[in-house]
Amino acid sequence: MDKHQLQKAADFVRQHWPAARPRVGLVLGSGWDAAGDFLHCRATLTYADIPGLGSSTVTGHSGLLHWCDAFGVETFMFQGRRHYYEGAGWTPLATPVYLLKQFSAQALVLTNAAGGIRADLQGGDLMVLNDHLNLMDGHPLIGPHDFFWGPRFPDLSRVYCPSLGKRLKRIFQTLEIPFREGVYAAMTGPTYETPAEVRMLRTLGADAVGMSTVPEAILAHAAGLRVAALSCIANPAAGLQAKEITHEDVIQTSREILPRLRGVLEQLWKELPDELGTTNPTA
Ligand code: HPA
Repeated sequence: MDKHQLQKAADFVRQHWPAARPRVGLVLGSGWDAAGDFLHCRATLTYADIPGLGSSTVTGHSGLLHWCDAFGVETFMFQGRRHYYEGAGWTPLATPVYLLKQFSAQALVLTNAAGGIRADLQGGDLMVLNDHLNLMDGHPLIGPHDFFWGPRFPDLSRVYCPSLGKRLKRIFQTLEIPFREGVYAAMTGPTYETPAEVRMLRTLGADAVGMSTVPEAILAHAAGLRVAALSCIANPAAGLQAKEITHEDVIQTSREILPRLRGVLEQLWKELPDELGTTNPTA
């Protein structure tokens, strides 16, 4: 992770948006692109212009950082994400979290598309993450210790904020949208898994599998932000359906359930002042 680049990113955003005081970050993953439509956008920067972040090389990931708000909650919305498999290291993945911490945000909401491993996780289902398995070939905090990211050995027994998770589950119930809860396994990618790997993941305790989210969740939690994460189960994982998995189908499934994705996020934003307190204590 290149601290110099991260600082340059923060300087760049501050130079453009000196008045920004985001309380929350939202990362929109594959297929979630339009799920933040309810937020009112004040200004936009492109990832390509932000030092160290760089443009996403993945179809379906816009690569736009919006400074926006809804229901009085100032937000940095990251429309699209960088992935480890893109080969640019951890800096592009750490940049959104670094920015949020530098701007004194309190929480981060992560979204992704994932393959369902548990039998009850089918295409179009939504899953609230309650834990994860980091099976990527590395860890974003490897390197010299930097107190910015908390202690040398951050505790991960509650990466996903129980209170935010409870609120999300209540929102699903209130909106009468079915949901699941489970453990997300992060693989490096960029291949989808083999059926044997999916059987291994099930044995290890994974309910769903994807190629993102975990690095950002680890960093944000270590840096003291409250984290919530939602998966759109885009397909049954490899070997659990006759069809092959394609990125186009993954995006399509998420788009089909877009009203549900948006509805849940919008209600969460309505409730965030209640969840986080009416003023930002760290700003
Ligand atoms: N595996 C990994 N990542 C994914 C999948 C999958 O089956 N579906 C969507 N993202």
